[in-house]
Order: sequence, then C-alpha cells, then structure tokens
Amino acid sequence: MPNIHIMLRINSDAKVVVLTGAGISAESGIKTFRASDGLWEEHPIEDVATPYAWKKNQQLVWNFYQQRRKQLLEVQPNPAHESLVNIENKLIDNFLLITQNVDDLHSRAGSKNIIHMHGELRLLRCEECLGIFDMMEDTHLTDDFVACPECDNERLRPHIVWFHEMPLQLQEINQAVEECDFFITIGTSGHVTPAAGLIYLAKSSGATCIGVNLEHPLNYDEYDHFYQGKAGEILPNLVENWFSNS
Ligand code: OAD
Repeated sequence: MPNIHIMLRINSDAKVVVLTGAGISAESGIKTFRASDGLWEEHPIEDVATPYAWKKNQQLVWNFYQQRRKQLLEVQPNPAHESLVNIENKLIDNFLLITQNVDDLHSRAGSKNIIHMHGELRLLRCEECLGIFDMMEDTHLTDDFVACPECDNERLRPHIVWFHEMPLQLQEINQAVEECDFFITIGTSGHVTPAAGLIYLAKSSGATCIGVNLEHPLNYDEYDHFYQGKAGEILPNLVENWFSNS
C-alpha cells in the first residue's frame, strides 16, 4: 500500500523520470479517455485508433484527429504542466518527461526533455517514405488530407501510435526508468501497457515510485507514495515540498 502521509524529499542530484497521462491535461479542457464522458465512449477505439480503422475509413480517422488538432488552438497548459518545468529547471539533464499524451501542452509550458511515446497530434507521417512532418498550420486544419511534401503519397497519416502498434523510443524509456531514483506518474489510469508496466521496472531497479491522480489507478498498490487529487491543484505544492531541502 502506498504511503499517503510521510512527506518525501527529492535531492537536487536525484534522477527523476515522470510519466504523464491524459489526466494532466484534463484541467486544460482536454478530455481523458476512460471517463464516463471520455473520448473512447464517443469514439470507439476500433473506429478511430487502430491501423485497420485507417485502412477502412481514412476520412473518419482523419476528421477525428483534425478535431483534436483544432482543439489544441483553444487550450493552454495548466499549473501541473508548469510544475514539471520547475522540476526540469532544478534537475536539468537528470530529468526526463515521458508522456502518453499526444497534445503539445508540455512543450508549450516549457518542458524540453520529453518523449512522446504515443506520438504527437502536431505531426504527420508518410507511410511511403517514412518522413515526419509538422502540420500545425491553420491552412492544414481542414477535412482535406495532406499530401507528402517529399514523395507522391497523397495522404499522410497521423503520427499517432494506434492500438496494436509499438510505442516510440521504448529503449530510451526503459533505460531511463531503470536508472532513475524517483519514478513519478501523473494523471494516468494504468490501463495501457507498456506505459502501465514501467512502474514494475522502476521498482525492481530500486526507484521510489510516486503517483498523483484523481482516482486510484489500476496499479495503485505498486506505489510507494500516492497523492489523490487534481494535478493542477496539488502538484505545485507537492513539487515545492519535495524540493524544499535542495
Ligand atoms: P485515461 O483516460 O485512461 O486515465 C486518465 C486518468 O487521469 C484517470 O485515472 C483519471 O482519474 C485521472 N485524472 C482525471 N483528471 C485528473 C486531474 N485533473 N488530475 C489528475 N488526474 C486526473 O488516460 P491515460 O492513462 O493517459 O493511448 O490513457 C493511456 C492511453 O490510453 C492513452 O495515451 C491513449 C489511450 O488509449 C493511445 O491512444 C495509444
């Protein structure tokens, strides 16, 4: 069972890996996936988030991600995103942010050392020449497909890791988690592997595991410390306390 009372301290020379999920962007106005009004209720996974869906109905999949890209223009980072920038500013190279989120709120808040393990809404990928392109120009945010600027493929695909596909940069992720002193997850339900399994790697490598979430995640019992609440409300104070000696 996680400890919910003892105050934790993190030294300025500690190695910290943070894993974020949809919950960290919820207070910015982006829907999570598994809430009762979440994205997967309105848009079944098999319709919009698998390679088969893309083969079967490209327009439907394209429109789904275009809607989500347009939403990025309306939302802003919240205090939880900003707290992670504060941690990175203290630890510099000893900090890695792994996010399952495909929004760009971490980088807009100012985080630098980020791995987007499930891809990025801002990017498109060519399945022919494998080029990756930034597409966040307003002129691209329509229902029209975007052609590859480098080959004759007329339809770039979202640079999103769909179900049945491999998450990105797994080797780097595993290495950083194995080497960290503190593994902190924020706003993730623990339903989707391999992200949800990283806590086991962190624990077996000796890291202290900390969770910040609105509800108990599926892997709740694995945490050494758990803080329940809205990340935007509780993370700024937690970060201040964790680093108050350094
Ligand atoms: P989920 O929707 O599964 O879980 C979001 C978690 O955030 C839940 O446990 C909520 O309780 C918590 N939460 C909600 N609001 C919060 C807040 N303000 N502060 C803190 N926590 C809050 O989202 P993920 O765990 O990110 O993958 O889902 C993982 C992956 O499943 C996603 O990356 C996506 C999805 O299918 C792909 O699309 C490949």
